[in-house]
Parts: sequence; C-alpha cells; structure tokens
Amino acid sequence: MNILLFRPAQVITCKASNNRFKRKSELNDIGLLEEYSIIIEDNRIADISSSKSFDFTQFDSVIDCRGKVLMPGLIDSHTHLIFSGSRADEFEMRLEGKTYEEISNKGGGIIKTVSATRTSSKENLKETAKERLRESISNGITTIEIKSGYGLNYDTEIKILECANELNSDGDIDVIPTFLGAHTIPVEFKNNRKGYIDLIINKLIPEISKRKLAKYCDVFLEKTAFSIDETKEILKAAKRNNFDLRLHSDQFNSIGGVELGIEMDVKSIDHLEVINDEDIKKLSQTNIVATILPGVSYFLKIPFAPARKMIDKGCIIAIASDFNPGSCTCQSLPLIMNIASIYNGMKLNETINAVTINAAYSLGLEKYIGSIEIGKLADILILNTNDYKNLLYYFGKNFVQTVIKRGKIIYERNY
Ligand code: NIG
Ligand code: FE
Repeated sequence: MNILLFRPAQVITCKASNNRFKRKSELNDIGLLEEYSIIIEDNRIADISSSKSFDFTQFDSVIDCRGKVLMPGLIDSHTHLIFSGSRADEFEMRLEGKTYEEISNKGGGIIKTVSATRTSSKENLKETAKERLRESISNGITTIEIKSGYGLNYDTEIKILECANELNSDGDIDVIPTFLGAHTIPVEFKNNRKGYIDLIINKLIPEISKRKLAKYCDVFLEKTAFSIDETKEILKAAKRNNFDLRLHSDQFNSIGGVELGIEMDVKSIDHLEVINDEDIKKLSQTNIVATILPGVSYFLKIPFAPARKMIDKGCIIAIASDFNPGSCTCQSLPLIMNIASIYNGMKLNETINAVTINAAYSLGLEKYIGSIEIGKLADILILNTNDYKNLLYYFGKNFVQTVIKRGKIIYERNY
C-alpha cells in the first residue's frame, strides 16, 4: 500500500540534527517545509518530495493536502490513563479552597482512585481506557505512555499492566507501559511502609519483568509519597530486573530527586514544578529528559516548571499531559502546549518539538517516531489549517483532521 500526501501548505518535520533530541536553540527549529509532498509505503515514510507533479495512478491512494499542515503524530509520554471512578467532587472542593494535599490527607486523592480501580473488573477497566484512548487519538496522539499506580496491590497492579499491554496489541496506537507501584503507600500498609516496598521489590518487579509487562519503572518521589532512600532502593531493584527508569520529582518539594535521577541514569524526570537553579544546571549537563506537565500546574494552581530557564540552560524539555483523575483531566496536548507557552514561558516552536521528537526520545523511540523523516514510521497528522501557528493560537480548538498511524488512517474527521 502506498499513499501520496499531496502538497500540504506546510510540513513540520521536527528532525533533530543529532537524530536523537533537541535542546537549546535547536528546540526552536521545527524544520518547516512548504509545499512538499510525502510518500508513504506500507508503514513507513518513503519520500519527502518538492516535486510539483506526480503520476497519481502510481499510488493506491492520494490524499489532497493542499491548504493543510502535516506534522508528526503527538506523543504523550506521561499518563495514568487506566483507572476507575471520578474525582469531580475533589475538583469542587478545591474550587472551594481546599488544597490537593489537604484532600489527599483526608482519604481523597490517589487512594480514592485506588479503591475504585481495585473493585473494577478488568473488562470494565479496559473499556473505559479504550474510550479514553479514542479521545487521545482524536487529539492527534499516536503513541502514549501509560503508568500503573492505581492498584497498589499485587493483583491490581498486574491487572492494570495487562490492560495496558492488551490495549497496545489490540488497539490502533502504541501504548508504552510503565510500572508505578510506588505511586503512594496503600492504606493497608500505612504503618508498614517497608512491607509495601518489599512487595514492590520482591514480588511485583520480578513478576512484571519476567512477563515483560512494562518497559519502565517509575517512582513518585515526594514528602507525601516515597523518600530518597526508598526511591533509590526501588529504582535499583528495577534496574537489576532490566527496567529502564523514570521519576516523578520536584512537584511540591525539592528534596534531592534530580540528583538521584542523574545518579540512577533515569530516562526522564517528570514534573519539576519546583526545581531549583542548581538542579537545573546539573540536569542540563546530562541527556536526561526534563518532562514538564503544565496541565497539572494549571489544574492544581501550583507553580509552573521554569521551562524557559531550563531550556536556556540546555535541558532537553518534553511536554506531556499527565492525564489522571486527580491532577490533570485534560487529554489535549495542543491545549497543554498553549498553557506551556503562556505560563512556562516556552516559544511556540519549542512546544512542538517537546511533544514530538523530545517526547519520542524520552521513551527511547526516537529511531522510529517523533519526526517526519524518510525511513521513520508514518505516524502523521493532517491538520485542518494552512498555518501551524494556529495550533496554539486558537487554544482549545481541535485541528486534527486525519490521524495516520504506521501508514494506516485510524481517525478521520469531516469539517
Ligand atoms: O502525576 N504526582 C503523582 N501522581 C499524579 C496524580 C495522581 C492523582 O492525583 O490521582 C501526578 O500528578
Ligand atoms: Fe504523573
């Protein structure tokens, strides 16, 4: 099957000069091409051509892209998409003045979602997750990372990761599963933290590794979640069991997570709302991705990660949604990119590279996705606009007209 995407007004390529990621001034370069056509052969990009005339009969399908924008499929590199229940009541409580931490301390928060997720059947969990995935796809997402972490016991953590793997094999987009058993301490282990950490290290990590249920292991390092020492112990065990690592750090408190992330050579450190200047400097000297989550800062009214400063110092910035029932219920990366541009001080082009090539690199997938380049997978969006800047300018509007995943149209919207 070969497809011609004929002469879009603009192609955003996002190609990185080192073929891996973009940082500093290159982050502001989206590799814009005007009136180039793209040829897809099977699941890959076969050519990017400036030619003005084609023999249309040579193609199985020709899509007229005149007046449209093409860009790489968006990559949501941090979500907690598999969960049951709602926390709309907590949103209302926050509007009335309660803080996220106060609500968590009173039995709301993560623990509330854990109860609902534990009692949900695998079928139900999968059905709701499928619906949410359709929402992500309609917003242009073609690859998504999904963390466990709303099970916090053996059976439910495994159930969530099995769901993630089934969604990957049965669904249209790539799902990258991450084990986040260390999301918080479950109530039954409230007075026995060590017991829960033992369960993670001695039962869950080996089993998940043996069954290859997750590529990454993540820990929520925070005063109210896991300490530096606990986090280190868990990450070390995960490393021994062949996981690659990620870290939630510096969301509310800066307690040494960046330094630990560097020591453990994690792939990405996420949140970083309260990262300090010294840690920015240290992180900028590594190839670890700094994934910011502007939707969380917006929704919880907490500080925004100092992305401008981080980019200027040389950090490799990615943006993700952190979609979850407590701290960000938004699945639209373009809307979150708009928030990043206004509140995290990012330039428009920087936000685009942050959800494509840099997000791909944060998941170790930059050889295959994240940019429009010959040989890469044909994960391409057709946007119903002739100027890519409109993607952020008209905030909250969905410009996604067609989603192509591995050369196959998986979503189409008629305008
Ligand atoms: O990434 N920070 C920890 N976990 C989620 C919030 C989860 C919840 O509130 O349910 C986050 O923001
Ligand atoms: Fe998160």
